[in-house]
Amino acid sequence: MAERRARLLVRGGTVVDATGSRRADVAVVDGVVHQVADGLRPPAGATVLDAEGCLVAPGLVDLHTHLREPGHEEAETVESGSRAAALGGYTAVVAMPNTEPAVDSAAVARQVLQLGRGALCRVAVAGAITVGRAGQRLAPLGELAALGIHLFTDDGAGVQDAGVMRRALEYARGLGVTLAQHCEDAGLAAGGHMHEGACSSWLGVPGQPAAAEEVMVARDIALVRLTGASMHFLHLSTAGSVALVAGARAEGLPVTAEVTPHHLSLTDDALCGYDPVFKVNPPLRTAHDTAALARACAAGVIDAVATDHAPHPPEAKDVPLDQAPPGMLGLQTAWPVTLQALGAAGLDWLQVLALLSWQPARIARLHPAAGGDQGGPVVPGAAANLCVLDPHATWTVEPASLASRSRNTPFTGRSLTGAVRHTVHRGEPVVVGGQATR
Ligand code: DOR
Repeated sequence: MAERRARLLVRGGTVVDATGSRRADVAVVDGVVHQVADGLRPPAGATVLDAEGCLVAPGLVDLHTHLREPGHEEAETVESGSRAAALGGYTAVVAMPNTEPAVDSAAVARQVLQLGRGALCRVAVAGAITVGRAGQRLAPLGELAALGIHLFTDDGAGVQDAGVMRRALEYARGLGVTLAQHCEDAGLAAGGHMHEGACSSWLGVPGQPAAAEEVMVARDIALVRLTGASMHFLHLSTAGSVALVAGARAEGLPVTAEVTPHHLSLTDDALCGYDPVFKVNPPLRTAHDTAALARACAAGVIDAVATDHAPHPPEAKDVPLDQAPPGMLGLQTAWPVTLQALGAAGLDWLQVLALLSWQPARIARLHPAAGGDQGGPVVPGAAANLCVLDPHATWTVEPASLASRSRNTPFTGRSLTGAVRHTVHRGEPVVVGGQATR
């Protein structure tokens, strides 16, 4: 492929990776980082990408992206979602399996992987834990693992039956894969359209209590202790959940956890106008919870910030709150929203990028330490999956200018500081000057 032979010079930026930060230019040849040093000359015929004033980092890695294909191409496709990802600085996303049909067979997994081949970023796939995500019979985890799938989840729903979850964990342990749980007790959450608390009472909207999440986090920690399998907790949203995970980590249990940019930055009072764009599962919580999530990021209890990018088309979302599906867009706003929320909590650029790039790459086994090409240090010989981020540029979120097929961003009209200037995927500049190149 022509782009594999491209030569690039990313010039004038500050390289930031797990080893620290330094001022350096980055030369890329044949999809691979060739040289990293100050004052490099462009290789013959190279495209020069201006990184003056920018951070040059391993591309961001999203553990939690709903690409909707197959089945809901009106909301998103692998192509449109991966375009949004690249524009958001991502060089890899993990596609969630709650498609139609669900990714509960090798055939559907192969289809999504195939669709991802020409995409603007790497598209990894998560498999379902149970057939049809119905929570009863285990999906063919071994067959899916044989395709290189490492994460399994029924996301959109939690696995309700503890016996089924125990069996899934036992299989997962044998296969060396990780189960990722959407922690939501269906009985406790039933009928709730937002967080249950003062706001929901005042609005007269049925809520989901924090306990709907926390009882499943607690149960699954017990199951990890029982089985020895590793577990990843998706989109944790409450102070109680992160306290439980902190306890499990202190005990040495093999658990990891993510939070979303929206749970770090928005609270349940956003629903005061009954606008379904703010409806999401788990629901937006309270300021007490957002502060606890940020502290858990600072303390290393939370390993990753993941978008839970959940596109829904206007005809589905622009309906009364109780009829709207939960979910919000995230890929193109994740980095600046996280930077703002965690910056205010005292985290620096390096810590924020750790949560968005190399730590999730490790959880998804896309990191060079696991034989992958994402999130590794920017050194000669590394795969050229990079993002160039301007931490000072400001821009205003306009839904119509986002690449997603859907428009359900909760940040409409919001002025954000932090813009993606370039994204390099396998040595190809797929985003240049904030625009996709193809
Ligand atoms: O709000 C959500 N939307 N939470 C989920 O877990 C699933 C997602 C979706 O698929 O729309």
